[in-house]
Amino acid sequence: MEHLKAQFENVFNEKATAHYFAPGRINLIGEHTDYNGGHVFPAAITLGTYGLVSSRKDREVHVYSENFPDKGVIVFNLDDLVYKKEDDWANYPKGVLAYLIESGYQLDKGLNILFYGNIPNGAGLSSSASIELLTGIIAKESYHLAIERLDLVKLGQKVENHFIGVNSGIMDQFAIGMGKKEHAMLLDTNTLKFEYVPAVFGEYVIAIMNTNKRRELADSKYNERRQECEDALEKIQTKKDVHSLGELTEDDLIEVEEIVADETLFRRARHAITENERTLKAKSALETNDLDTFGQLLNASHHSLKEDYAVTGIELDTLVAAAQAHEACLGARMTGAGFGGCAIALVKQTEFDDFVEAVSSAYVKKIGYNTDIYQASIDDGARKL
Ligand code: GLA
Repeated sequence: MEHLKAQFENVFNEKATAHYFAPGRINLIGEHTDYNGGHVFPAAITLGTYGLVSSRKDREVHVYSENFPDKGVIVFNLDDLVYKKEDDWANYPKGVLAYLIESGYQLDKGLNILFYGNIPNGAGLSSSASIELLTGIIAKESYHLAIERLDLVKLGQKVENHFIGVNSGIMDQFAIGMGKKEHAMLLDTNTLKFEYVPAVFGEYVIAIMNTNKRRELADSKYNERRQECEDALEKIQTKKDVHSLGELTEDDLIEVEEIVADETLFRRARHAITENERTLKAKSALETNDLDTFGQLLNASHHSLKEDYAVTGIELDTLVAAAQAHEACLGARMTGAGFGGCAIALVKQTEFDDFVEAVSSAYVKKIGYNTDIYQASIDDGARKL
């Protein structure tokens, strides 16, 4: 923080007057269910994005990222908030301010903001949603906006969907906006009802394992999967009165297969339906401290994401298989959108170092470059410091 304060003064020639933090997130289970009306089970983590702020007298917003120093200070005006490719990462804060104004909030003057994120780039731990919620709380505090946390969450998703163009669900923004220390959140994405569940794993801890693979094509593949689920649902709706795949259960699968009558679309739907059920089971298993079952559900989730949803790839599969093969590991799966990024594993704390060693060496042997593995700490959502 001392370094960031000094950097702020270097860049903007004045002191920052307020400091903020928004976390990243992991998802324990419930992957690719949030745009299918299913359940998700994410948690906010201690890695995230810092924002240092001062107000301006004009209507310009000057943003600078310690992560992209070569982009310099990016400037835009509160009266001209349009997406510009050359503004790169700054489109995220810009989109948030644009949609706040569009929703009728008064943003009377400009801001200087310095951003710094310690979420590894492209790791699938939601650095973009972290920037969105960070900007949201900066705006709420700086302009004294009477906006609810949940509305900032929804606004962040809208930025992602319409300003940036990724058709994502609400999980990331929700986890980052609503996170609570040492708790995961079971969220029903259909109703937005949610419940905090203590993320207590006894002798076990959650490992975050980064494939260090760039998530190329991730956005286009993501939108493709979403479209496939919508196509499957449309077919199902010709015979069944449902609004989302999340309303279906494993008992419906035989009928769904018949109606959908397309191998790929059926597999996508089967993932969405079974993953939703696994998520509910995993929540109960965690509550009753049945970590063996919880771990098996993680494994089954990965299998489904690999075989039915086709969003894993050699890097994630190698990492997860190596983790699952270790005796100290109760279960492992990819987390987030997939196509690279991170996986998580439930690992016995006392054997953590040995686990890291074994998984790292198996990974580098097959993939040719290293993984980074560390212990996840579950923390509060976006906040003023
Ligand atoms: C990304 C999206 C989320 C969710 C996950 C997959 O993180 O932003 O909305 O769909 O992928 O579960």
